[in-house]
Amino acid sequence: MKKRKRLNILITAGPTQEPLDPVRFISNHSTGTVGYEIAKEAALRRHRVTLISGPTALTPPGGINFIKINTALEMRERLRVLFDGADCLIMAAAVSDFRPERVSKSKISKTGKKALTVRLVRNPDILSELSLKKGGRVLAGFCLETRDVLRKAIKKLEEKRLDLIVASRLSRDNNPFGSGKADFLIADKEKRASMLKGISKKNLSKLLLDKIENLAFNV
Ligand code: CTP
Repeated sequence: MKKRKRLNILITAGPTQEPLDPVRFISNHSTGTVGYEIAKEAALRRHRVTLISGPTALTPPGGINFIKINTALEMRERLRVLFDGADCLIMAAAVSDFRPERVSKSKISKTGKKALTVRLVRNPDILSELSLKKGGRVLAGFCLETRDVLRKAIKKLEEKRLDLIVASRLSRDNNPFGSGKADFLIADKEKRASMLKGISKKNLSKLLLDKIENLAFNV
């Protein structure tokens, strides 16, 4: 059997936390499970893995390079440095699209306030930025939608110049957060979509890495 080369795989996972003051932040429900599962599976396949993760309750898998960050801007900075040496980027992180414009140095007190207005500013779209210098790298993104999943997934795949996108629908019957099974789809540049019903995150990771290896090794 032909020996395959080890890929340098960058994976992001978890939410980002955007601080308001020293004790508060804006974030989302991401648990980081998919990104950590992909990192585990990629390490088992003997790839060189760097996992850049927002705050989660998970233990990073062994045999990988683990980097913890809090904010989208920190994640962007780490990726900017590591992207050059990567063969593949898997952006499973739920990056906060907005951050508070101003971070208070001291705890914001309710005393004397009837309401509090917080102005949010856009965070950079990290994946879109990096995809401008894609080169021969394989890029995979994720998206979570409440409706029209396939159409929106293909739109994001095209706009962010991705090779693959993993998409899921958040609904009463389908909860893609956490460690349970859920429905996902993986779409590619030819607009082919594999529908994955009630799949575990471990099996989702295996399928995604199979597709990434096929693209990276041109098979
Ligand atoms: N992403 C990113 N930087 C951001 C937001 C998202 O790199 N500021 C990445 C995510 O990690 C994911 C992909 O882009 O792989 C899609 O994220 P999503 O939030 O669904 O995309 P948006 O274009 O922000 O979607 P929407 O316009 O619906 O908010």
